[in-house]
Amino acid sequence: MASAEVRREELKAVFGEAQGCTRCPQLAQSRRTVVFGSGNADADLMFIGEAPGANEDAQGLPFVGQAGRLLEELLAEIGLRREDVFIANVLNCRPPGNRDPLPQEIANCQDYTFRQLELIQPKVVATLGNFATKLLRGDATGITRLHGRAEIRTIGPRTVRLLPLYHPAAALYTRSLLDTLREDFARIPELLALEAPAQPEPEEPPAPPPTAAAAEAPRVPDAPPPPDAPSPPDAAQLGLF
Ligand code: URA
Repeated sequence: MASAEVRREELKAVFGEAQGCTRCPQLAQSRRTVVFGSGNADADLMFIGEAPGANEDAQGLPFVGQAGRLLEELLAEIGLRREDVFIANVLNCRPPGNRDPLPQEIANCQDYTFRQLELIQPKVVATLGNFATKLLRGDATGITRLHGRAEIRTIGPRTVRLLPLYHPAAALYTRSLLDTLREDFARIPELLALEAPAQPEPEEPPAPPPTAAAAEAPRVPDAPPPPDAPSPPDAAQLGLF
């Protein structure tokens, strides 16, 4: 199994890839930044929200607005800080006007989430709200039925304890949801104390090297980066601690 340092470097490489992502042409046009995620690249606990809002888009970091402050407050109540966990979203780019993520956008972005899970190797993943819960559970059951009920789930390459939670933005305006979110949050320490679930068998080994003919094919030179392309990421940009 790769060391935490190797996995962190790979995570930075995926972050670099995401910076230039154009899988969703509309979002690639309208975004200011790609909000890949931030936190501890070797965290036992990962949160997955919905999509960046205006504050996140401006700063390039997830959950930095009001919902983020509530998330930090709830974390503090269970003895954790933001830098202890990794926080990401179903979408890495802000949908214009904060509209809901479209199914095609979710499909385009899910590979980044799966690679984050593979590299960070969390024991517990808390989904925040309906979009993350539906994506990670692979079915349409809503958060109202599922919140606070942990289950073992295999998500892409990783098996984790999944804990669906209400989205903090919803809890900001409804007292009863905040109480429920707080109660559900209180389950996190006991889940973290459990052993990590058994992992699925690794995938088949990679395909054999290309044949001689393919290896000799002339190499198409890489296109030069566009003039306003972001410079390669460093740890500070990524927000990794
Ligand atoms: N809401 C989300 O789902 N994600 C963020 O990053 C901020 C608000």
